[in-house]
Amino acid sequence: MKRFILATFPIRSKTVFLRVDYNVPIKDGIVLDNHKIIASLPTINFLLGNNCKIILATHLGKPAGNVVPELRVDPIAKELSLLLKRKVIKLNDCIGAEIKERIDNSKAKILMLENLRFYKDEEQNSPAFAHSLADLANVYVNDAFAVCHRKHASVEAITHFLPSLPGLLIEKEIFFLNKALKPKKPAVWIMGGAKLNKVDLIKQALKKADNILIGGALCFAFMKAKGIKVGMSKVDSNSVKIAQKVLRKWSADKIILPIDFMIAEKLSPSAESKIVRYNKIGPQQIALDIGPQTIALFKKKLTNSKTIIWNGPLGYFEWAKFAQGTKEIGRHLGKIKAIKIAGGGETAEAIHKFHLAHNLTHLSTGGGATLTYLAKQEMPGIDALENNYKKYKN
Ligand code: 3PG
Repeated sequence: MKRFILATFPIRSKTVFLRVDYNVPIKDGIVLDNHKIIASLPTINFLLGNNCKIILATHLGKPAGNVVPELRVDPIAKELSLLLKRKVIKLNDCIGAEIKERIDNSKAKILMLENLRFYKDEEQNSPAFAHSLADLANVYVNDAFAVCHRKHASVEAITHFLPSLPGLLIEKEIFFLNKALKPKKPAVWIMGGAKLNKVDLIKQALKKADNILIGGALCFAFMKAKGIKVGMSKVDSNSVKIAQKVLRKWSADKIILPIDFMIAEKLSPSAESKIVRYNKIGPQQIALDIGPQTIALFKKKLTNSKTIIWNGPLGYFEWAKFAQGTKEIGRHLGKIKAIKIAGGGETAEAIHKFHLAHNLTHLSTGGGATLTYLAKQEMPGIDALENNYKKYKN
């Protein structure tokens, strides 16, 4: 499907509504992780280079239509200003006559609106709210890949009122994630993480991958489905049912489960730990990381692959004792010549924590959005850009 592209679009000197995803962790007014902000800089610099006036807009957290002081975006505007080494004017609302007047009368090149989710209309995809946002600019650029799985006013409805196109980050995300969906073979997916709602993703993995290496909490659903005891490890009955269905498919032999684990007697960072075989987890024990034999097995499976997709840490990486699997596999990726793509909120957190990003071809900025794209589910934000192209191309 076609979209307008920034490189050829007549964008020069326009006022651009730039939707970004700056949904970043903030503590005491300080941005704790600025990777999403950094990822938006190429588009911002492109627009500045084309003499555009940029109206930046993001959501932050889940204020559910209320003005929540801790979720104001001032710390983000400050961080962006530091990164760009130029002034970013932060506005205290996102719609209305006063805001429009400030934008129209300002000589500044970058103005940032207040948290879009202070209006419940944002999540309701309200056309009236979207119209008020659109009224602030003459072109809409969406660079908020991480929220493109949401049908929200600043992502979808706004495209009904302005010529709309993706920013450079969205183009980059689509380019690399498509490589995951049309992989060079052999292709290996590494799957893990604490969240177990990954059915559609696993179905896609079964179609696209030659091997699926499963760790994290996800593997316990499969082990239980096979009748293996997992002690007190994290598992829920619904995912076991799903795993049972998946294991009945002919392609289930692509799934490779851990052969040993690092276990603890209680859920604590200082708990005593030891290595046990996969079928020797005691009733009171909790498996918190893959063991050394599994690490070796996974490395072997990865070594000759041409495409690697990674979603989900392989253990409780927040605690040093149980981070070994995630760290070692991440380091091993650096030695492999392949297209290596990682995505998902927890995955990105682990990769940044252990400074592994340089081992990858692409680290997606999306959490849910990346999983939705890889599972080939609906992406309203991207569909909207394609529909807009059809409407405005002539
Ligand atoms: C994310 O961080 O994954 C995106 O910003 C989407 O956030 P949401 O899950 O609150 O819609």
